[in-house]
Amino acid sequence: MKIIHISAECYPIAKVGGLADVVGALPKYQNTLGHPSSVIMPFYDNKYTQEHTFEKVYEAEFNLGPNYYVFSVLKTKDSDLDIEAYFIDIPELLYKNYVYSVDDTKRFIAFQIAALDWIKVHKQQPDIIHCHDHHTGLISFMLQECFDYQVLNTIPVITTIHNAQYQGWFGYDKLHLIPDFNEEKIGLLDWNGCINPLAAAIKCAWRVTTVSPSYMEELKQNANGLESLLSHESTKCQGILNGIDTQVWNPETDDFIIENFTKDTISTGRKANKNWLCKEYNLDPNKPLFGFIGRLVSEKGVEIFPDVFKNVLETEAVSILLLGSGEKETENTLKSLKPVYNGKYNAYIGYDERLSHIIYAGTDFLLMPSKVEPCGLNQMYALRYGAIPIVRRIGGLKDTVIDIDQDGFGICHDDVSVYEVEYAIKRAVALYNDSKRFKKLQKQIMTIDHSWDVSAKAYINLYQSIN
Ligand code: ADP
Ligand code: GLC
Repeated sequence: MKIIHISAECYPIAKVGGLADVVGALPKYQNTLGHPSSVIMPFYDNKYTQEHTFEKVYEAEFNLGPNYYVFSVLKTKDSDLDIEAYFIDIPELLYKNYVYSVDDTKRFIAFQIAALDWIKVHKQQPDIIHCHDHHTGLISFMLQECFDYQVLNTIPVITTIHNAQYQGWFGYDKLHLIPDFNEEKIGLLDWNGCINPLAAAIKCAWRVTTVSPSYMEELKQNANGLESLLSHESTKCQGILNGIDTQVWNPETDDFIIENFTKDTISTGRKANKNWLCKEYNLDPNKPLFGFIGRLVSEKGVEIFPDVFKNVLETEAVSILLLGSGEKETENTLKSLKPVYNGKYNAYIGYDERLSHIIYAGTDFLLMPSKVEPCGLNQMYALRYGAIPIVRRIGGLKDTVIDIDQDGFGICHDDVSVYEVEYAIKRAVALYNDSKRFKKLQKQIMTIDHSWDVSAKAYINLYQSIN
């Protein structure tokens, strides 16, 4: 079966969050299962595209409303990728040093049009088009209803919702950007008086998946306005838990970390990574280290951090290290705590792939008090590197972490409140002080298999069921 994934992000080419990790890994595992799987993504102006050379495999033009654009399809010449990637190059719209911005409606409609124009002429058409998130949400509608693309309408389209908070809606004033379609079908695009690409995908895709089973259930109750639609379409919806790329995320071979380790050398290996972090960020290596990595946005529960950190740092002997970027106000608040808790707390505000790997390898605990977490990959990386996750029981966190008091290996809490997270940290300190149990758990969690092996097969089964 030939599969094409269409996505705004793909690791290591362009990454904002977990979407990139998934699209960088799932096709690789599908290839291994004998199903040629490739990715179509935008051609951005970033480190990866600057450091590689590309060849043009196709060039054409298209209309976007009244405007006319030329686009090319590029492939890397010096590929270091394990997957086949095709890049849609529309210099005026996509070739920017960012992935997302304020004019995304225009940028991603153009991307979707160009991707389909190319698939139409591609010699070997795919057996499945697998779309990711709202940036590619109009594809299933376009195949079904836009006159230029109906020739492709026998190809099954799957949409994976990585995060239903973001739906890509826009006003009717931009409707003219969508290629001509049967106007009687406008209802497929509409949700509450707006054009809603994610809603359109839920209506038009042959199957809809979310990135964990629990998140699928939660969406029926709360999906930022789409809950009734998801309940209505529930027979074609399924939750498939994300995996992790165990080649990229492997403490034994990871080039980013200070010292590699296996479960047999965990003690010295983790110590070297923790010592490096503590030296670099002026923290005490003899205290339990709590890390956080992620987007500094409300859904990650980060607003409670200032109060939690204040209470914990004033009463417990712990160190806290945070890596993240996002909303400016939160960034500034978390930065402003640095001088107040000098030697006990530090934060790197920004994006740093290497530092993230070292934190997984060196922190004792990883905090994830998310309000919403469709899957969450951080907790799985933490497990693989022997760091104990402290998570709120929600979405994929609920599906991957079991509390130590239920014979599990993590620390779980039910609410995102200062009290509950503080209490969870206190439980973690008690665990850390029970050195024998703590060390045993660290070894045990490294052996949990969260590779894509199982879920890549689940996607193939889903594709086969509709082919
Ligand atoms: P989300 O996609 O909602 O951001 P995930 O847990 O699925 O959350 O994935 C987050 C990914 O982004 C992980 O690979 C994590 O290590 C990475 N990440 C998040 N913020 C940063 C950052 N500031 N620097 C480096 N990596 C980050
Ligand atoms: C989204 C979700 C996150 C998930 C990731 C990859 O960004 O917020 O929970 O792990 O997509 O599917």
